[in-house]
Amino acid sequence: MGKVHSFDHPLIQHKLTYIRDENTGTKEFRELVEEVAMLMAYEITRDLPLAETTVKTPVSEAKTKVIAGKKLGLVPILRAGLGMVDGILRLIPAAKVGHVGLYRDPDTLQPVEYYCKLPTDVQERDLIVIDPMLATGGSAVAAVTFLKRQGAKNIKLMCLIAAPEGIHAVQQAHPDVDIFVAAIDEKLNDHGYIVPGLGDAGDRLFGTK
Ligand code: URA
Repeated sequence: MGKVHSFDHPLIQHKLTYIRDENTGTKEFRELVEEVAMLMAYEITRDLPLAETTVKTPVSEAKTKVIAGKKLGLVPILRAGLGMVDGILRLIPAAKVGHVGLYRDPDTLQPVEYYCKLPTDVQERDLIVIDPMLATGGSAVAAVTFLKRQGAKNIKLMCLIAAPEGIHAVQQAHPDVDIFVAAIDEKLNDHGYIVPGLGDAGDRLFGTK
């Protein structure tokens, strides 16, 4: 079963409060999401392997460490996932970014992929799938299924807020995928919104409401 990592860092929790607040405007919302994504990336990358190296300081030689060439890929699910990418890239600028777009078929209610552009070496990369709101889990499950079909082996899922229903769905479909969240909320409402949540993440990021 994939583990759920919930971040209780005070900075993340503080910023999440203002992200949730309906009075927070688009500019501030976008900045806060980016900042929280950066702080979460700091925690998510905790297990990156290190290699020994040496550098010459102005004083002497220092035996020190660098990240051991692990290849990372970020895969935001369009469109709300885009809001977290720049924050993560500030910490991991060498990561490649793929994009997956999904819509829900109105008849079958199943997610259908309408756009996909991935790094060519996706099979060799550790991937972080990004979706701020893990609601029913339908999109995240479909995106991970799709990435596995492309050969991806090592996948993490990063969200701002998750509903228990979404966590359950991902754990059932992809028990190898760990989930990283800033908060786990109460439930979904009848319209599929996370309660209390933050509303529609895409609309709030892009000012479309
Ligand atoms: N997507 C959102 O943007 N918000 C929710 O609450 C659920 C899904």
